[in-house]
Amino acid sequence: MCGIVGYIGKSEIKDILVDGLRELEYRGYDSAGIAVLQQDEIKSYKAVGKLINLEEKTKDFASEGFGLGIGHTRWATHGKPTELNAHPHLGEFSYVVHNGIIENYQELKAMLQSEGVTFLSQTDTEVIVHLFEKNYKALNDPMAAFEKTVETLEGAYAVLLITKVDPDKIYFAKHGSPMIVGNDDNGDIHFGSSDAALIGKATEVIYLDDGDYGYTSVEGINILHNRKPKALNKKALIGDKISAQKGGFRFFMEKEIYEQSEVLGDTLIGRVLDDKIQFDELDENFFDGIEEIKICACGTSYNSGLACSYIFERQAKIKATVEVASEFRYKEPLLTKNTLFVVISQSGETADTLEALKMAKAAGLKTLAICNVDNSSIVRIADRTILARAGIEKGVASTKAFATQVMAMWMLTIYVAQIRKTMTPQEIKVELNAMRHIPTTVVVTDKLHEKMKRLSKRYLHGHGFFFIGRDMFYPLALEGALKLKEISYLHAEGYPAGEMKHGPIALADSELFTVALMPKTLHFDKIKSNVEELAARDATILAISPERIELTDDYVHTYHSDHPMSEFFEMMVVTQLLALEVSIRLGNDVDMPRNLAKSVTVE
Ligand code: M6R
Repeated sequence: MCGIVGYIGKSEIKDILVDGLRELEYRGYDSAGIAVLQQDEIKSYKAVGKLINLEEKTKDFASEGFGLGIGHTRWATHGKPTELNAHPHLGEFSYVVHNGIIENYQELKAMLQSEGVTFLSQTDTEVIVHLFEKNYKALNDPMAAFEKTVETLEGAYAVLLITKVDPDKIYFAKHGSPMIVGNDDNGDIHFGSSDAALIGKATEVIYLDDGDYGYTSVEGINILHNRKPKALNKKALIGDKISAQKGGFRFFMEKEIYEQSEVLGDTLIGRVLDDKIQFDELDENFFDGIEEIKICACGTSYNSGLACSYIFERQAKIKATVEVASEFRYKEPLLTKNTLFVVISQSGETADTLEALKMAKAAGLKTLAICNVDNSSIVRIADRTILARAGIEKGVASTKAFATQVMAMWMLTIYVAQIRKTMTPQEIKVELNAMRHIPTTVVVTDKLHEKMKRLSKRYLHGHGFFFIGRDMFYPLALEGALKLKEISYLHAEGYPAGEMKHGPIALADSELFTVALMPKTLHFDKIKSNVEELAARDATILAISPERIELTDDYVHTYHSDHPMSEFFEMMVVTQLLALEVSIRLGNDVDMPRNLAKSVTVE
């Protein structure tokens, strides 16, 4: 979840790079850096935190005349957000910026270290620059060295590399992460990992394909593929920056729903091993003496905590309670030292959650944050943090943050179950296997999205929605209702399905819409009975289930019913798309719904 820019030409290089990075800052802002190469001299600057810190650091630097440069804005996945881990990474005479993940970096690093190379950072990226320099020393040809380097890398990457041994060129490679190269009317060259960085700069662009690599100079762009030159497929670049940031989607929320598959993969990386969960952020002693966990959060983050409290008790066999942070603060809670206090927050700045965390710390409890924003207030205060790794979430309605929070909490559950030996190695393997499949489970297919678009037109009126579910599908029902109400402004409530007949079913008639979450793997017969009770009272019902339900009005077929969590994540996507499409049909501003803010920093 990072951004890349590059430039070759006669304009002031720093300004062009920083300007491009500003357009990409929405993708990551825990650190940023640039490297500028002019007449055999490379100047590099890096700063932790937002881009403004880099701007401040480079305010006295300006290039003059011809030169080239690369820049990067980072969202940490490997290694903390420090200056050393910020890009560009340097070797002896070259610099590199990279998006993606080099999967074989550990073996490459070990090989390079055994040959005497010293690494400065904890990143996977740094192997690229050292590998290039090793190959250059052997081949004495920068292009051949770069080609060999790219052929050794496994994983996903978009790479720009500059080197003093070939000071007029930028070397590039793309495999699995986006990269665009273009030129302006003066013939200057521009690189960006998204259109947004290039709009207003390049006039013609080439969207590189996976497997493309090569070099550019002001003499032209040279692309190779499988060691053969490739024709340039240039396109005119038009558009505005905001729509470019949305990557072709109508709203950030929509884009973020589609991104869930990718970011859930990021949440898993390096943590789900063959036979166990590993968290570099934790050590096993951290759970010594813990007999209870108390989860505290607001809104969507509360819903993710509530969902995971079910599996925590069931699998890790530790009592798990969940509290809304704004209630917890003022109830004079009894806090005992054998309780691990877990806060969940996308932003890390939510006032009520932050204050609850401070109370727990003051009472001497161990604290753990599940958070998406490194260096946020909550992360700084908690004893330990597990980063959700959702990347920047712009839509006020939280989607991918919820998904990654649930994933992180599920992994934590299994981690504790390992330590406490409350699950057998075989049972743990089943969970790990299910986790690895979740990124596939949440892929939005055209068929599903079309179905939700069509269905949405039937749900624009009525006197309210009930989302119902049982077990951990009850918190998912709460979350589905929250999504719908915050962006459609229609009344929606989440309810435990078994509670309906204790009051709410009095509301049932054809104008009451019920969205029933009916997983095959958890209490299917029980929820089916609840749905039958509602159908008998003429409620309008949308069933989401892998089982065809004849008596409901509408039905969304789900396909992943091998594990309750697969069902959970697949149904999550269905409810998100329903809220999105209803809101769009009602003509609302999906990303900035009325009366709401992305981060609630007041109580
Ligand atoms: O940043 P946090 O996760 O702490 O925010 C908590 C809530 O304000 C947030 O989840 C809110 O409910 C969202 N708008 C829901 O989509």
